[in-house]
Amino acid sequence: MKVLVATQKPFSAAAVKGIKDIIEGAGHSFALLEKYEAQADLVAAVADAEAIIIRSDKVTAEVIAAAPKLKIVVRAGAGFDNVDLVAATDRGIVVMNTPGQNSNAVAELAIAMMIYMARTQFTPATGSEIQGKKVGIQAFGNVGRLVGKKAEALGMSVMAIDPFIPAEKIREAGAVPAASVEELYSSCDYVSVHIPALPSTIKSINYELITSMPKGACLVNTARKEVVDEEGLEKALEDRPDLKYITDVAPDNYAALREKFGLRVFATPKKMGAQTAEANMNAGLAAARQIVDYFATGNTKFQVNK
Ligand code: 3PG
Repeated sequence: MKVLVATQKPFSAAAVKGIKDIIEGAGHSFALLEKYEAQADLVAAVADAEAIIIRSDKVTAEVIAAAPKLKIVVRAGAGFDNVDLVAATDRGIVVMNTPGQNSNAVAELAIAMMIYMARTQFTPATGSEIQGKKVGIQAFGNVGRLVGKKAEALGMSVMAIDPFIPAEKIREAGAVPAASVEELYSSCDYVSVHIPALPSTIKSINYELITSMPKGACLVNTARKEVVDEEGLEKALEDRPDLKYITDVAPDNYAALREKFGLRVFATPKKMGAQTAEANMNAGLAAARQIVDYFATGNTKFQVNK
């Protein structure tokens, strides 16, 4: 089988070598498309691919139509909003993710972002400490739970909410369950966002939620830019000069936000939450192993379009 690794934002060279070794070691052939500039490059590269490993690369209906032999797509990472699941399912193509494999990298970035904003983006202005503050974790999955643990170790109190995790499980994991998203926002100095981008969550973090945050609060988004209502955010930052926003990656109105609000906002230029040597290796190798296993045994454990 031909396995294509298509990553606009490349894995480390060591991770690519590890993926190649697993694929070729199992008797499959390996192809690499890295740092490509246009979506057309991806469309052209999938022509004879039977499996694809991607990151945030966009596997659209057009890509799927251009890949007549495609049997499996593995998103080396958590979020799979970049794959057209309907088009894939229509063709009987299996789509998987590699849950948990890059979570620690994202969780460390979320903590770093809190400190970066608490210390006014590493400028000499008097900042604050995160110890003694309260963080609200919005979605208590692999990343959210790790953020909670790390925040607790740094002396923060932790509140969390997750529509799929019962309150007692959140309590068992060491966090106080919030009764509602509204309670989470209105009572936490930091809210760390870990919800996926779905029709029900897109723009769900709106003016009302943001302005309900306590004085001096900071919203930390290492999830997806789409879940924040950008107009609502801009208005909230205007009406509440004490609030802050930090995100991985930039909202469409970032230039305007930065001009208006200066050090109260920050966005990474390119999504970097999972961009560590360790996460590249963990997620990349897991993706390769899942493909090899799927072709050998039909294992669909991590399939997201069942
Ligand atoms: C994920 O969903 O796993 C993260 O957002 C990481 O995305 P990336 O692989 O494009 O860095």
